Parts: sequence; structure tokens; C-alpha cells
Amino acid sequence: MGAEKVPMVDLARQWSEVEDEAGEAVLTVLRSGRYIKGPEVEAFEREFSAYLGRAHGVGVANGTDALYLVMRALGLGPGDEVITTPFTFIATAETVAACGATPVFADIDPATFNLDPSKAAEKVTERTKALVVVHLFGQPAQMDELTALCEERGMALVEDCAQAHGASLDGRMAGSFGRAATFSFFPTKPLGAAGDGGFVATDHADVAEKVRVLAAHGAKKKYHSEAPGINSRLDAVQAAILRIKLRMLDRWNDQRRAVAAAYDARLEGVRTPFVIHGARHVYHQYTVRHRHRDSLAATLAEAGVPSNVYFPLPLHLQPCFARLGYREGDLPAAERVSTEVLSLPVFSGMTRPEVDAVVEAVNGAAG
Ligand SMILES: Cc1ncc(COP(=O)(O)O)c(C=O)c1O
Repeated sequence: MGAEKVPMVDLARQWSEVEDEAGEAVLTVLRSGRYIKGPEVEAFEREFSAYLGRAHGVGVANGTDALYLVMRALGLGPGDEVITTPFTFIATAETVAACGATPVFADIDPATFNLDPSKAAEKVTERTKALVVVHLFGQPAQMDELTALCEERGMALVEDCAQAHGASLDGRMAGSFGRAATFSFFPTKPLGAAGDGGFVATDHADVAEKVRVLAAHGAKKKYHSEAPGINSRLDAVQAAILRIKLRMLDRWNDQRRAVAAAYDARLEGVRTPFVIHGARHVYHQYTVRHRHRDSLAATLAEAGVPSNVYFPLPLHLQPCFARLGYREGDLPAAERVSTEVLSLPVFSGMTRPEVDAVVEAVNGAAG
């Protein structure tokens, strides 16, 4: 491996931009002695919901809990089927299984990596209760078609926005389409905490209330649990940091979009991302396709340019879902792209020489 010319992502660089203000906010929380719930968490819940144009928001411990809590709040359980994409992080479908329901995988559109609405429609049965869509890598899915499908078939639409903070479609925010939307604030996400965090956004007061109760051991009244829940809280230190980073989010997304525009214009020999009409893609990942992906990744590493594969094994072929009976060949688009995708460095604050280094290395290896 060559000496690294550019990092995959540089969170310390991002922190240095907010250090004065966020450092002070963290100290204020620490000095207050109020570390769980409290005014910072409440303020962040209000501010992030308002940013999304949603009536209610609940801070939780991470994006996985957010998904699990929404599914529980929607009443999903044994015997229910939930349609989702096989080309995502495991949490999207793992949480369907965790609440006892059955994930049903529909193939993706290989051009966008997102759920193909026509393939999702083919999977609807009388047991289908919900559809979980992911705005993968920061690009909104085809929400017109998916919203219409869910309305027609009486299914709840859940948006997994773990990679799409600030993305939009035709001016409408990712996270404002479904019955509920979930977010992760894992540090590398477009809006990332300095640790774990998650969020549920919804316009439905009953869904928000159920999520709040289930996230507090199912107890509306302390020490009186009505349903088995979990303990899932966004902590005050993370909320204080997120409040300040939220003000930077659009600017940071613009910076990642500028890096993506430079890659779009200059990369040769790889298939660059396809963006659907009306989408504001926020490039949580800039993901190209190449037939000899592994050798491209190795050559880039030699040249000091890191890359990552998201995701090498589609979910329908994961050992944990073997009991569902999927076979290789069942979802060919997801299977094919999983052998071809490669994500390149993209982060806010990336410098021109760093972008040049990536372009030179890719064009030297693949062009
Ligand atoms: C699409 C998607 N869904 C859910 C999650 C889970 O979020 P967390 O890591 O905060 O639990 C992630 C995080 O990596 C993700 O990328």
C-alpha cells in the first residue's frame, strides 16, 4: 500500500470547524449536570424536526434503534411482511426480523442503487404491512412511485434516512414522505455526532408517542411498563453537538456535492453515479461501478487512495436470512452491483489537491 494521499473521511477536520462553539456547548452540558434528556435534547428534537418539515421528532440512541422502534410503533410483528431493499446496511432488514416480521426483498434499480418501485410492487401480498425505503448513499429513492404504491395497497411507508440528512426530491426533504423516517447520527453520516445517536421523525403524534414510550422500556408512567420496550436515548452531549452541526449541514452537503461534481466531470473508465431528475443527492458516499472492482481498489490503495465497498453481500444472501430461502440469482441487479461498486473519498473540507489525487489515481488505474 502506498502512503495515504487522502483519507476516506476526515472527522477531525470537520470538528475543527465547529470546535469553538461545540466545545463550549459540550462544556455547558457537562457543567449543568443534566446528561440525560433535558433542554439540549428537546431543542434538537424541535430543530431537526423543523429542518425536515415534520411535526414530531424523537431522539434515540442510534439509527438501528430508530428503525426498530418505528416498526414496533407501527405494530409490525409475526405474520407481517415488510418489503425492503437488499442493497443496504443490515440494520434496515435486521430490525424487521427483530420485531418478528418477515423482510421481503425486492430488487433495486442498478442505475441508482435504490429500490425499484416496479419490483417492489411485484412483492406485495395480503400480508404486506409496510415498505422500508432507503435513500442509499444520500440519493432520494423514487418516492412518487413508492408513495403511490403504499397508498394504493394500504402499506405504511418508512424512510431509512441514515445516509440522507438534507437530501431532497423536487424540493421535498428526504424524511418527509413516509409515515415515519429514521436517521442515524453515526459520526461519518452527513449529520454525525461525536458518538452514536439516532432520530425518528413523523407527522403522526401517535407514532411519536409510541416511539417515546417503547424507547423508555414501554413505560408511560415510570416503573409501569405496558409493553416490553428498550432503553434508547439520545444523550445531551450529542444533542448539543448536533444542534451546532445542523447549522452547518447544508453547507457541508454543498461541499460534498462540489467534490462529486468534480468527480463526475473528470473521472474516466468508471461508471459515475446516476442522479434522478429533481434529486438533491448529498453524497454520503460517492460510489462508482467498475467490472474489475477489486483490482481497481488494489491499484488505488497502491497509489495511496483509499476506497470502500458498500455493500459486498446483498441482504437476501446474508447467512442470517438463510431461513428465508433466497438463492443466488433471485435479485440479479443487487447481486451484480455488489460485485462492481466502489466508494471513493468524499467529505466536507476535502481539498482540491486531495480531489486531484483521487482523480489521477482512478484515471491511471481504470481510464
Ligand atoms: C442505511 C442504514 N440504515 C441504518 C443504519 C444504522 O444506524 P446506526 O449505525 O446508527 O445504528 C445505518 C448505519 O450505518 C445505515 O447506513
